[in-house]
Amino acid sequence: MEKINAVITGVGGYVPDYILTNEEISRMVDTTDEWIMTRIGVKERRILNEEGLGTSYMARKAAKQLMQRTQSNPEDIDLVIVATSTGDYIFPSVASILCDKLGLKNAFAFDMQAACSGFLYLLETGASFIRSGKYKKVIIVGADKMSSITDYTDRATCPIFGDGAAAFMLEPTTEEFGILDSILKTDGKGLPFLHMKAGGSVCPPSYFTVDNHMHCVYQEGRTVFKYAVSNMSDVSAQIAERNGLTKENLNWVIPHQANMRIIDAVAHRMELPLDKVMINIQRYGNTSAATLPLCIWDYEDKLKKGDNLIFTAFGAGFTWGAIYVKWGYDGNKSSDN
Ligand code: UT7
Repeated sequence: MEKINAVITGVGGYVPDYILTNEEISRMVDTTDEWIMTRIGVKERRILNEEGLGTSYMARKAAKQLMQRTQSNPEDIDLVIVATSTGDYIFPSVASILCDKLGLKNAFAFDMQAACSGFLYLLETGASFIRSGKYKKVIIVGADKMSSITDYTDRATCPIFGDGAAAFMLEPTTEEFGILDSILKTDGKGLPFLHMKAGGSVCPPSYFTVDNHMHCVYQEGRTVFKYAVSNMSDVSAQIAERNGLTKENLNWVIPHQANMRIIDAVAHRMELPLDKVMINIQRYGNTSAATLPLCIWDYEDKLKKGDNLIFTAFGAGFTWGAIYVKWGYDGNKSSDN
């Protein structure tokens, strides 16, 4: 039997309209545009601030655009997987809400969670379903409403995060395109450094947890920074080496958008100029599971069939990794954003 690869055949995305600037953040906490730009590199982020709207709203917008761009019929979709840490509810999943809103009658759907590495894990998971030969059209979505778990009284975390969603279509091919190699890692010893203290089964919600802002991201930034730089750099260099990718034939690195200094360090380690690195942190901040596909959404028109891409991310867990993708079509971003 011929080998089946999973190729990305389209991208859709969505960011909310509301722009939260560094000036506005500087009125909320003791910080400055200059500190945020030099230490993190975020100028502004998008916030879903309409009451009653959650992650599934953004995921649905992204998936809808994806289906339009790929001219997909709802009945042809076999599977929907959403990577998120900020689902609308603890249950049911965002993916099951999407099935209803998008009119998908033949798909099964579930969410998965690997924090900021969620989309990286999802890319390999979605590809595995395609490689099995059983599924022909798989929608994968990275979506997070980080503003719903951000403490806007904590200057160490609130400038970092934003909201957004983006989606890929995965389909089978017998050509040598698509998701070709991956290195995915997990080290549960990262728990103390990056987590949400309450709201799970260890510490269910109470007046105490709400009063003490325990439903928000807790991060020991310096430690996470150190692990993010070394681990993302190591796996990116490793996957490049074992696939014969050099600074000459590697076209793009797509790093998680957590901190411009982390992105710089990864590029430096790979000896890549920044014009081969997808960067949109200045406009969206860290949208967690949405950063990687939002980069592709922004840069799609620059991509050519056959381009060599490395995706890399690091997040809570700790979770991290790198994935090698050979891009499968010439980018032709339509004017429907
Ligand atoms: O996406 C998941 C993975 N997450 C990451 O990859 C994030 C990794 N970590 C980081 O990006 C950085 O550690 C942060 C952006 C979170 C923090 O930057 P930093 O340069 O590591 O700052 P720091 O925590 O070491 O703090 C340095 C100083 C402290 O003051 P003192 O103790 O030296 O007087 C902080 O209180 O900067 C202070 N500070 C601020 N000052 C102005 C912290 N936040 C701010 C702020 N404005 N917003």
